[in-house]
Amino acid sequence: MTLETALGDLNSQSYFVWDDFLSPDEVASISLDYQKLYDEGAFSRAGTGNQSGERNLSGGIRSDETYWLDPLALTLSQHVFWDRLEALKTRINEELFLGLWNLDGHYSRYPVDGFYHRHLDRFASSDQRTLSMVLYFNPDWHTGDGGELRIHGQGNPATQTDIAPIAGRLICFLSASVLHEVLLTHQVRLSFAGWWKRR
Ligand code: OGA
Ligand code: MN
Repeated sequence: MTLETALGDLNSQSYFVWDDFLSPDEVASISLDYQKLYDEGAFSRAGTGNQSGERNLSGGIRSDETYWLDPLALTLSQHVFWDRLEALKTRINEELFLGLWNLDGHYSRYPVDGFYHRHLDRFASSDQRTLSMVLYFNPDWHTGDGGELRIHGQGNPATQTDIAPIAGRLICFLSASVLHEVLLTHQVRLSFAGWWKRR
């Protein structure tokens, strides 16, 4: 994947998929960081759309647990992907003038039978969230494990794309317009979900 291809996809379809954004070694290091926080009980059940003020179109129900990263106190492992995402932001701003400013995000853990119903990431109360991203940390994801990110087509609601949450894969999409959901997962599903906001 090149930046040019990614930005072309973002322009034409409002999202891009970047495989091997992280190497297997990087994923392994992040997974240790993730598991340590999980074992320490740092994760908590994510609020539903209504509680968080998130615009939801179908009940706003999700079943993941999350841990919000602190940008001022990142661990070494967190720095690996955070810095890479910040570098990508700079390039995207240079090319697309989206005015992306700061990044925030959380680790997410979906249990077996977890899901996140169809929604938009942009809050009804704020239009700051501009570009959404998801990074996956699942090294052994197989066909039939479920848990795909389903992106619904714009304009034509009948078109949809299902993307498996395989390790090292990055997905970015426009927060304001891309309807998406996490399909029922049959395995524990680990990810980082983040948002670039504008001022
Ligand atoms: C979210 C979300 C998608 C995914 O956290 O808002 O849509 O694939 N996550 O984990
Ligand atoms: Mn979302």
